[in-house]
Amino acid sequence: MRHLISPLDYSTSELDHLMDVANDIEKNPEKYAHACAGKKLATLFYEPSTRTRLSHEAAMLNLGGSVLGFSSANSSSASKGESVADTIRTVSCYADIAAMRHPKEGAPLVASLYSSIPVINAGDGGHQHPTQTLTDLLTIRSLKGRLEDINIGLCGDLKFGRTVHSLIEALVRYKNVKFYLISPDELRLPDYIREDVLDKNHVFYKEVVRMEDALPNLDFLYMTRVQKERFFNEEDYIRMKDFYILDTKKMALAPKDMYVLHPLPRVNEISTEIDNDPRAAYFKQAQYGVYIRESLILDLLNIRV
Ligand code: CP
Repeated sequence: MRHLISPLDYSTSELDHLMDVANDIEKNPEKYAHACAGKKLATLFYEPSTRTRLSHEAAMLNLGGSVLGFSSANSSSASKGESVADTIRTVSCYADIAAMRHPKEGAPLVASLYSSIPVINAGDGGHQHPTQTLTDLLTIRSLKGRLEDINIGLCGDLKFGRTVHSLIEALVRYKNVKFYLISPDELRLPDYIREDVLDKNHVFYKEVVRMEDALPNLDFLYMTRVQKERFFNEEDYIRMKDFYILDTKKMALAPKDMYVLHPLPRVNEISTEIDNDPRAAYFKQAQYGVYIRESLILDLLNIRV
């Protein structure tokens, strides 16, 4: 039995297959409409979510399956002190596959050790968000036709942003990907990723504070929200939260074929005036999130269509 806990759990050729199926689902949704009939997905969300929970649920419903679950720790027996291990052992009796989001790093990994059904890490603290990474890879490949030879700017909260950590780990496996790390000093990428992932793989990266210094070089600009929920005090969050705001003036410095991505939710970091720019791809990205999760569910349940 297989789980998805880290973005590295799938090889690049396995990822290619997942993305090929996702693209086929996009083109031929009816072909997959009953693929998961009789199967159940449990969504175990101990932290708030709109996209990740609902896109997993939409994916299972699109495949003809059903969904059950909880959307906050307070509405589950976690509030009475139940452990993740006991929860997943119980949910294994009710569902065929589970997606878990948890504020503690490593909680979905612990769940996978006690589970008798596949577990999908739907985000664990400031650590990883592998299904967002699958979404991001599919979006990049679908928009640009490749995952190699790209210049990507990662902007905002690179310290706590788990989507950025997972995406870097996944992209270093492709040839000639150049990273522009755009953040204030306080929100720099953690050492363990800079040294153990970027340096170790001899990957080009440049750290800049001003977005303007990277924009003209980019194929993709990946904006992120400052992660309020991970700050230790409100004062620091308020000081950092509007450090970057992408607006039409800044977009004028970017190449005409650069795409803007964002895992969402956004707060102020992308002005809504950008939403109608043809380079704004973040809602398209949210749509790709459904196709790739359909493909992932099929794969983890060993269902071939
Ligand atoms: N991208 C993402 O994880 O969004 P949610 O927090 O709404 O799930």
